[in-house]
Amino acid sequence: MIILGIETSCDETAICLIEANNDSIKILGNELYSQIELHKQYGGVFPMMAKREHAKTLTPLLEKCLHDGGFLHNKKNDLLGSKKEKIKEILNREENLFAAFMELIEKIERPDIDAIAITNGPGLEPALWVGVVFAKALSLAWDIPVFPVNHMEGHIIVASLDKKTEKEFVFKKINYPAIALLVSGGHTQLVLIQEPLKYKIIGNTRDDAVGEAFDKVARILGLPYPGGPEISKLAEKERVEYPNKKTKYPLPRPMIHSHDLNFSFSGIKTAVLYTVQKIPALTDTIRQEIAKEFEDAVIEVIVKKTQEAIREHGAQTLIIGGGVSANKKIRSDFTQLANDTGIELMIPEISASTDNALMITVAGYMNIISGKKPETDFVAKGNLSL
Ligand code: KG4
Ligand code: ZN
Repeated sequence: MIILGIETSCDETAICLIEANNDSIKILGNELYSQIELHKQYGGVFPMMAKREHAKTLTPLLEKCLHDGGFLHNKKNDLLGSKKEKIKEILNREENLFAAFMELIEKIERPDIDAIAITNGPGLEPALWVGVVFAKALSLAWDIPVFPVNHMEGHIIVASLDKKTEKEFVFKKINYPAIALLVSGGHTQLVLIQEPLKYKIIGNTRDDAVGEAFDKVARILGLPYPGGPEISKLAEKERVEYPNKKTKYPLPRPMIHSHDLNFSFSGIKTAVLYTVQKIPALTDTIRQEIAKEFEDAVIEVIVKKTQEAIREHGAQTLIIGGGVSANKKIRSDFTQLANDTGIELMIPEISASTDNALMITVAGYMNIISGKKPETDFVAKGNLSL
């Protein structure tokens, strides 16, 4: 089965094409355009700009992806005549996208694709909508069924991929019950998975998400967006240079003793702000020391809560997903936890941790083979839950 997956929930435009057979997949094309450089000047993601960029980028990315997969064949496509009005209607808010879309679709042969997977939430709603209407227009043009995919489910499922060669992966067998820790720019959740594709949120943040806290603390320290990788780099340097230093800037471990599985990260961000305000001159050395203390504090909390969730539910598999799972210390601390407890750990490769289209494509595939039906009338939902 050939599946095309599309992701536009935040500031990454991504398209992926896979061939899937039972429990193995092969990547035929995988394109990603990151808007980070554009948003950097504003210190965060600007939703309307993200939407505009997705609209500009989707068609060329699709063309490149089809080309890489050997699916791009020039041939005047006359069948579209009667469908053109309907496609125009679907893309009615995206004039430029419609023009670029028609130009491509009318000059190429319908590719032999069986299904389209598209993120319909959660994320920035204007950004999600562009992807959703693009997928619907493609579906109509080529008569290919569309499967809406939950972005967070994508983060979970991509973690179960085991790389065999550069482009080939097999799905590892998840033993249930499993616990997923989702840590991204918008989410911090503990999820109980008792059977495939059934999710129960058992822990959540009351305020900021972990990634959001990294980004906000980075801004307080005068570091560029996105802050996660920046903080992580500094923290790492501090650990190498001063392995045994006791910090002069201790931070709280919020809710670590709350006896539930919920989180709160806005207080720690405020604590960093107050700490910084008291420092007469913020030097690189101090930045580095605070970055490490912040990273330690956050990771201590998420490791402890995850351990509690594993114990409470007798979990057999631990899945870590979301952009923050690219963090080196998170990866090594959870590897340690897995070694200590014997639980099986699934964590995506770094390139598949932050937003990408492979995760959406494989989640679409899993839904298809579990019997989910294609949809036509779905909408983009910024706050879509698992
Ligand atoms: O999943 P993701 O790519 O987008 C959302 O769905 O939100 O996650 C992005 C978040 C950002 O907050 C970013 O700062 C954080 O992941 N992040 C990291 C690292 N790499 C990305 N946080 C900590 N350490 C990292 N190495
Ligand atoms: Zn994400």
